[in-house]
Amino acid sequence: MCESEVVGISVRTIPGYKNAITGKDTAMVEKLSCGHEFIDGKFNTDNLYYTAPAPVENTHLRVERKRGEEVRKKLMAAGVLDRARKVIRDGDYLLLPVKEEIDLPGTEIVRVAGKGSKMRALSLSDSLKDVLSAEELAMMPRSFDIIGDIAVLEIPEELMSKGKSIGESLLSTFKNIKVVARKKTSVGTEYRTREVEVLAGEPRTETTHKEYGCLYRLDVSNAYFSPRLGTERMRVASQVKEDERVLVMFAGVGPYAILIAKKRKPSEVVAIELNPSAVEYMKENVKLNKAKVVPVLGDVKTETPKLGRFDRIIMPLPKDAGDFLDVALPTLNKGGVIHYYTFTGTTKEAADEVRKICGGLGRKADVLASVECGTYSPCLSRMCVDFRLI
Ligand SMILES: C[S@@+](CC[C@H](N)C(=O)[O-])C[C@H]1O[C@@H](n2cnc3c(N)ncnc32)[C@H](O)[C@@H]1O
Repeated sequence: MCESEVVGISVRTIPGYKNAITGKDTAMVEKLSCGHEFIDGKFNTDNLYYTAPAPVENTHLRVERKRGEEVRKKLMAAGVLDRARKVIRDGDYLLLPVKEEIDLPGTEIVRVAGKGSKMRALSLSDSLKDVLSAEELAMMPRSFDIIGDIAVLEIPEELMSKGKSIGESLLSTFKNIKVVARKKTSVGTEYRTREVEVLAGEPRTETTHKEYGCLYRLDVSNAYFSPRLGTERMRVASQVKEDERVLVMFAGVGPYAILIAKKRKPSEVVAIELNPSAVEYMKENVKLNKAKVVPVLGDVKTETPKLGRFDRIIMPLPKDAGDFLDVALPTLNKGGVIHYYTFTGTTKEAADEVRKICGGLGRKADVLASVECGTYSPCLSRMCVDFRLI
């Protein structure tokens, strides 16, 4: 290891990591008199003027390997260990990533650039293994949703007493999360919303979610939004042809409507939604994305017949969409397409459901595709049936 003293800070070369700066006084601007190539911060090679880096990302605590576990636990307890970054081996030492400088006997603060500061992909169980036992971890769901910067997860009743530690642990592992909330109820209301409780982080339930370059403002406690449906929304949007007039029923905060308006060239997109809070967010999102969408507050049953005819109708209400085909079918232009969502066991069952309901309404459905686009329960999946009328 090469080491050279430069105006109050020391510059070390760690094998594989180029240069690291040690010492606690690095958060200042220093003139350097050596020829080290700095990768940690801005370095103007013309006059060797070094601007100190934003400290936290590259900050590690250097500790002898034999004390590594003891110090790691202390850092964990103090909430200082940065679990989104890797521990680096440095000969007989370990460099533990920390979120802030901390004074522990026998350790020193070092800053490391390059590989060591790269984010590490961590799973929910990786994140929780220090706060939950193996049995407790097995009770946790395998995944959770991240909506904007809010993590929304289900915590089993037995682990409710550990809710705060679970939340804090997620916050320290996943840098993009600023709020951790637990689902208090399942999606059950007419508006398809659920109650949530903030466990850790900022005390809010409002966020901005980004999907395919579009931004969606929403409150996870009073409007439905599933980040898991992004690919399905794009599948549908990509079928929209130029000049089509599109109706999005059950439009929520506007993700289908805005995506279509932004990525395709429809003549018009109309979006109906019953939940007043969701409609307020949809209006905000229409402005935010500069999208040409007409939000309509009201019931699909009564509003649809007032809106004229459409070339494409999207019906993303899997539990009850069948009850609204009576208003959708008469509104569809000749040759137009309906995207109908339902929960069934197989794609064939979904297609059969559409044929049956259309048959009951005196029409014949020509199923173009029936696709699985999400899971609902162990036996049921979210299906989308794309169909025309013949
Ligand atoms: C499953 S969510 C889908 C929201 C949105 N399309 C999305 O993908 O995020 C269904 C939405 O339909 C709305 N809804 C339920 N019944 C309705 C009705 N009769 N008329 C209009 N909207 C309705 C709910 O308020 C909810 O926002």
